[in-house]
Amino acid sequence: MKNDPLIELALQATDRSYSPYSQKKVGAAIRIDSGETYTGSNVENASFGATICAERSAIVRAISTHGPNLRIKEIAVATPSELPWAPCGMCLQVIAEFSTSDTSVTLVGSSGTTEVTTLGELLPRAFSRKEMTLSTDSPY
Ligand code: THU
Repeated sequence: MKNDPLIELALQATDRSYSPYSQKKVGAAIRIDSGETYTGSNVENASFGATICAERSAIVRAISTHGPNLRIKEIAVATPSELPWAPCGMCLQVIAEFSTSDTSVTLVGSSGTTEVTTLGELLPRAFSRKEMTLSTDSPY
């Protein structure tokens, strides 16, 4: 798992973090179905709720560069904690919009510890377009 290019990209993205409030530098890298990779860093704000996490930053970058027709095959997140952080709920929901339950999620801790899991494991019953279609009053 060491020298995995996606992990390297996530680690490098931590250097581009804007995190003057928490001092927590997070980096993310995604590989989409075309094979292209995109990185993102957390971007904080004086109005704390406006903060954008590294994972969402990478996804927004991918879509605004590549277009929305993509699937995330793998995501690596470099977190500033010895025990790697799991992506926050809002990021899991945004990852789910462009992934499948078997999308690989690699969490990298500050001492290099990696934990490999899947989106389905982290968010087993994601809210999705399918939920809305199943609804009896669905507009879809
Ligand atoms: N953060 C991320 O970038 N990704 C996550 O999934 C969890 C939290 C960022 C947001 C904030 O800038 C800092 O980490 C502390 O919460």
